[in-house]
Amino acid sequence: MNVESNALPIRKLDADDMPLLMELEAAAWAGPLRASEATIRRRLALGHTMLGAIDGDALAGTLCFTETSQDPLVRADFPTNFDAFASLPRSEPVHSLYAYNLCVRPSHRGGNTAIRLLKEMEHHGRRLGARWLIGDGRCSAYAGSSGDEDDDDQVRSDPRFRATIDRWNETGIRPPLEKIIRDPLLRLHYRVYDCEFLYVMPDFFPQDAASGGFRVISAKDLKK
Ligand SMILES: CC(C)(COP(=O)(O)OP(=O)(O)OC[C@H]1O[C@@H](n2cnc3c(N)ncnc32)[C@H](O)[C@@H]1OP(=O)(O)O)[C@@H](O)C(=O)NCCC(=O)NCCS
Repeated sequence: MNVESNALPIRKLDADDMPLLMELEAAAWAGPLRASEATIRRRLALGHTMLGAIDGDALAGTLCFTETSQDPLVRADFPTNFDAFASLPRSEPVHSLYAYNLCVRPSHRGGNTAIRLLKEMEHHGRRLGARWLIGDGRCSAYAGSSGDEDDDDQVRSDPRFRATIDRWNETGIRPPLEKIIRDPLLRLHYRVYDCEFLYVMPDFFPQDAASGGFRVISAKDLKK
């Protein structure tokens, strides 16, 4: 497939796009992981940017982020859970983009929508002169997706990956890259950005059973 010729347009979304956002949220995320309309409105009011890939009257995918003056390398200041991470108000000077909620509608998976959304955020960060692109990477290979009717993810549990995450969490010693990118989503981040992985965050998103509640924080240094 010539993916570029099929590339869907990407634009910034706003409160007028709420019906599209809610519909995508229900299509792309299993129940416990969905954001409510009130939460999405609050994030927009905090100054977050929501990029949407548009397919006709529907959203094929989104990627959301906040522009922040935070330095992600200061571990003590890093948000300790997803709610805090996705509730940071926009702040200046913009040093980092903290990204969350990368998702693609199941019918549109397997194309290049996720990659194009990530690349669009990179362009945005470079235009602003930001230093870091930060992502809270799900790591569904930890326990595997449930396969429930509600859950379109098809990530298998990987006991070796799980042991890597548990050891990283226990010792604080970052594992070698090849062990981290056994997980498909973390591999996607690495492939798109050539990023590093800063932290393993326990209890970051406890409802995310596939990831054992963990998130792995990815970091792309735009000055490298
Ligand atoms: C993760 C997601 C955005 C990937 O979009 P996609 O269109 O399926 O991506 P692609 O088909 O281009 O595949 C890109 C990579 O993602 C991996 N991937 C596919 N489905 C995945 C899934 N459900 N979870 C994690 N990674 C997945 C693929 O293995 C592929 O990597 P590889 O080629 O190295 O194996 C999409 O599966 C999704 O929306 N999942 C539900 C929401 C989610 O988990 N988002 C991640 C938030 S951190």
